[in-house]
Amino acid sequence: MAVILDGKVLAAKLKEDIKEQVAALKGEGVAPKLAVILVGDDPASQVYVRNKKRDCEEVGIISQSITLPADTGREELTGIIKSLNADSSVHGILVQLPLPDGLDGTEITQLIAPEKDVDAFSYYNVGRIMTGDYSFVPCTPAGCMELIKLSGVAVEGKNCVVIGRSNIVGKPMAMLLMQENGTVTVCHSRTVNLADITRRADILVAAIGRAGFVTGDMIKEGAVVIDVGINRCEDGKLRGDCDFDSCAAKASFITPVPGGVGPMTRVMLLKNTINAAIIQGGKENA
Ligand code: GUN
Repeated sequence: MAVILDGKVLAAKLKEDIKEQVAALKGEGVAPKLAVILVGDDPASQVYVRNKKRDCEEVGIISQSITLPADTGREELTGIIKSLNADSSVHGILVQLPLPDGLDGTEITQLIAPEKDVDAFSYYNVGRIMTGDYSFVPCTPAGCMELIKLSGVAVEGKNCVVIGRSNIVGKPMAMLLMQENGTVTVCHSRTVNLADITRRADILVAAIGRAGFVTGDMIKEGAVVIDVGINRCEDGKLRGDCDFDSCAAKASFITPVPGGVGPMTRVMLLKNTINAAIIQGGKENA
């Protein structure tokens, strides 16, 4: 039976460290501030934005919420982002995705100044992740790396398999694992004989978006299983991309859903905001 990698406990611990860092920065005259822009009234996005605000408040980061109607135009949104870019009291800017129809999330994201891009979605920050020289890492892959670290299993030399090739999770996850000297395979919806590949994984990261997709017979005995999926099922419950019981019976370590990657993603946003404040506050070279 696998050991559970408890993201809730680890996130709470990291939050305490962040709280201290925020207090120290404030003592040096830098008050970290995150601006979060929500366009439209998508209920899931409203929950995410509310959680981000609460997380910031818990550690002493100033949060500014900008809520805009769904019919907000490209020019108006562009103007708001530009004024936040120019506002030296704001260190991090996040535009909650997805944006309503008519606004292109990829295009809008590129307007955020790279040094304030705490999601690390801008081409500049993506490029820095490619080269292994980065200040910001997308929050979910960064959270996954912390959970792997918690397992105590070294990535170096291991077969690492990532299922999912999204720009937000799969691709940057592969880069981070490579950076730690893992041998990385990225699988996706067109992969042939997926289970043959996943069964070779010492470290398996599942980011597919389908509840219970990965079953115990698809994983290697003793694997570390990181489940990125958060799927709301018909019974109202949240389930991961991995079938927990059959995977936990074979894995050495596994993350639960909820309480695994999710809380870590949230705390990594706080960490990126602190890094942004440090860089812009002139306390460290970027
Ligand atoms: N929507 C879902 N995940 C994310 C994320 O990581 N960042 C932003 N900005 N929006 C999201």
